[in-house]
Amino acid sequence: MRNQIELRAVSHHFGTGDSQIHLFNDLELTIEGGNSYSIVGPSGVGKSSLLTLTAGLEQPTSGNVRFSINGEDVSQQKLRKRSGFIFQQFH
Ligand SMILES: Nc1ncnc2c1ncn2[C@@H]1O[C@H](COP(=O)(O)OP(=O)(O)OP(=O)(O)O)[C@@H](O)[C@H]1O
Ligand SMILES: [Mg+2]
Repeated sequence: MRNQIELRAVSHHFGTGDSQIHLFNDLELTIEGGNSYSIVGPSGVGKSSLLTLTAGLEQPTSGNVRFSINGEDVSQQKLRKRSGFIFQQFH
């Protein structure tokens, strides 16, 4: 069984003009099923934003996020039916 989430050339920005926040530029990341990962960094660096992208809850500004289950590519919708997510602020 091979489950994977791949982020390729992912960039993510919020806001416009002078108030723009650049979180990621051309991020490359492969998450393999069966492993545990820690995302570490100061407050506001983009840890929660990265999780929402890897869970398919949000789309990156540019780049691709690919999900595969048992070696087969699946849509964001299918992944969401088969996955759980605990929000940092869940109220
Ligand atoms: N929907 C949004 N619209 C605008 N800015 C946002 C949005 N979501 C997050 N941000 C901004 O992006 C930056 C990263 O936020 P994020 O919540 O991903 O950080 P974090 O690393 O999880 O922080 P913390 O350790 O405090 O949980 C912050 O400056 C935040 O204000
Ligand atoms: Mg957070």
